[in-house]
Amino acid sequence: MSDAPFKNPGWAGNTGEFDLTEADVRGTEFVGHRPPEGGHPAAAPSYPYMLADKAPDAPLFEGPYKERLEKIRGRYPNARAVLLPALNLAQEIRGHVSPETMDAVAEELGLASAYVRGVATFYTMYNKRPVGRHLIQVCTNISCNLCGADEVLAAFLEHTGTEMGETSADGNFTVVEAECLAACGFPTCVQINSRYFENVNEADVPQILDRLKSEEGEG
Ligand code: FES
Repeated sequence: MSDAPFKNPGWAGNTGEFDLTEADVRGTEFVGHRPPEGGHPAAAPSYPYMLADKAPDAPLFEGPYKERLEKIRGRYPNARAVLLPALNLAQEIRGHVSPETMDAVAEELGLASAYVRGVATFYTMYNKRPVGRHLIQVCTNISCNLCGADEVLAAFLEHTGTEMGETSADGNFTVVEAECLAACGFPTCVQINSRYFENVNEADVPQILDRLKSEEGEG
């Protein structure tokens, strides 16, 4: 384990000559817990948000989630256009999108099951299997690969005691390989739930995992 000070704040804002807080960069509604009624309206159709606690059998689109779905519906011209943000919401609620969840979304939107399954299985951002509280996606694409991504990936697997795609016995971690995360200037990039950790090297891995364990309940 490295003795160097922890240098991966988990967001890009306070690097270089800037001195911004995470809240300055991302807004307070995006940090840690996302409110069930949804954060900034612009976030609704964005990358699926991951809640730390998974509830694979939770009811879909009830209460505040029903309201959020209706808000999303109001922004799009038809059911097919609503599909991606509706799947995002389903994953936020249940933690992954099972075939049964895909069918439930299809029914809710009045779309064919085959269409919904085709869309949901196309995108790697939808977890088709249950994942741990922290889904660790290590970019191993070209820029990151040239800067040691394979070693970073190996370190995450070793320190979580898992094989690729497997969830650790305590339910905390699932480690997977990811294609380019669009942070090629800060290799190696690792996305953990909805946060980016940048300039990660293998020596940083134990500190990152310790930090995640100490952030009980954060996304
Ligand atoms: S190659 Fe890793 S973020 Fe682009």
